[in-house]
Amino acid sequence: MTELTHPLATVPRDELLTRAEADPLRPRFHFVSPAGWLNDPNGVSQWNGTYHLFYQYNPEGAFHHRIQWGHATSPDLVTWTDLPVALEPSAGPDADGCWSGVLVNDGGTPTLVYSGRFEGKELPCVAVGSPDLQNWTKDPGNPVIAAPPAGVEISAYRDHCVWREGTKWRQLVGSGIRHRGGTAFLYESSDLRSWDYIGPLCIGDASQGDPADTDWTGTMWECVDLFRAGQGSLGSVPTDNAPDVLVFSAWDDGETRHPLYWTGRYAGDAFEPEALHRLDYGGRFFYAPQSFEDESGRRVMFGWMQEGRSDAAMVEAGWSGVMSLPRVTTVANDGTLEFAPVPEIEKLRRNHVTVPGQVLVGAGTSLETGVSGNQVDLELDLQLAPGAEVRLGVLASPDGVEETLIVLSRAAHGTPVGTLRLDRTRSSLDPAVDVEDKSGPVPMMDGRVRLRVVVDRSAVEIFANGKPLTARVYPTLGGERVTLAATEGSARLLTFDAWTMAGIFESTRSLLPEGK
Ligand code: FRU
Repeated sequence: MTELTHPLATVPRDELLTRAEADPLRPRFHFVSPAGWLNDPNGVSQWNGTYHLFYQYNPEGAFHHRIQWGHATSPDLVTWTDLPVALEPSAGPDADGCWSGVLVNDGGTPTLVYSGRFEGKELPCVAVGSPDLQNWTKDPGNPVIAAPPAGVEISAYRDHCVWREGTKWRQLVGSGIRHRGGTAFLYESSDLRSWDYIGPLCIGDASQGDPADTDWTGTMWECVDLFRAGQGSLGSVPTDNAPDVLVFSAWDDGETRHPLYWTGRYAGDAFEPEALHRLDYGGRFFYAPQSFEDESGRRVMFGWMQEGRSDAAMVEAGWSGVMSLPRVTTVANDGTLEFAPVPEIEKLRRNHVTVPGQVLVGAGTSLETGVSGNQVDLELDLQLAPGAEVRLGVLASPDGVEETLIVLSRAAHGTPVGTLRLDRTRSSLDPAVDVEDKSGPVPMMDGRVRLRVVVDRSAVEIFANGKPLTARVYPTLGGERVTLAATEGSARLLTFDAWTMAGIFESTRSLLPEGK
């Protein structure tokens, strides 16, 4: 059967790579697909020392269609080698797409559990890999679960979290129960092929809160990810106070809203939620995160940095979607999660610049930092007086017309919590791009803030005392200046270190890479 060409496949295949490479907005040290479309991270893992990143991929063009699993490996989570596509749709339950899933180690056999898409629905499928994880064989028994649980009216059913517990495997499949809310269905198996349905692990309440809220839990949960934040494995008796964490991406009728997580306790067949938190203040710009524990015991998380430009602009650009830098996930004293890019990323730092410590006074002149670049890593230590507001500008054009502003503020009285805000209203002269304000609370003891800002052309990742805000920006003037000013009250700049960042893709890439 010949594959009909998708109406959005307007850019010839052999032009996609050149267009993508030529785009000044394309990141240079974040992982991106060779060209075409990228969405969720899948099968994130470390296998015999090597890190593996699979991802939702359409090499036909920069649009979401007939999704395959792209594959890349890394010795250090910094540089990546493209490998052949791991999973591609074929006649049967994944004929229309190989959607998101995970990699597990089945007694030495690398095994993928993913969502096969066929006729508008997704069902769980399994594939086993060669020892080098490059060749994958789909299970003849796919789909391994024939249908969603009977007797429940569901909105969607897909994506997987799979772990070993004692002698059994357990699996979650993300879903939503109509007129109630998002959920994750729990299953058990002894062989990853034959699954017993246990029940919903926990059920969200979509009638709670305003659907416009940044912590609304949605009508369906995509990409559920359950892990123990403290010592020990899921299901074992906890030996510390660290919570179990259930991450999900709140979805509503085709709209990708934002990643959230519940802290609580998973025991027996249920997850008892205690508190709901926003995972990233950038909302849909850090979507569908997936995490794994690496061989050194760190929990490492990747997320999909969606685009904020129009579908047509993506198609024209020849590429779409950025993988976040891998983030180490730890638990703060207050039981919430904190994030930081893996320290390995620091290998890419070049041209260290130090800005002298000084006092910044509100409405005074902005500091001439001398720092510039569109690939930069910035680390600041600040102390804000009560009522102070500090503004760090990046990607500022020479005339200051375009500038992306990272704003930190501290309340005038009392509370040890301040605000991190990303103001993109002047990020781009292009009127078509997303400029919605993004913000969230930041714990700020005595006004102290450790601010980390990573800029990679159109990709921006901000961490304020470990709270992340991720987004995309589309400057048109090629601005590279970094500015700093207090706009209210006063603040002390204690330290400011800046680096430009080297790129990670040296040679020309291939849309459909060959084996290594
Ligand atoms: C999340 C998601 C998943 C699905 C995949 C399809 O972004 O919608 O639920 O498996 O992307 O590409």
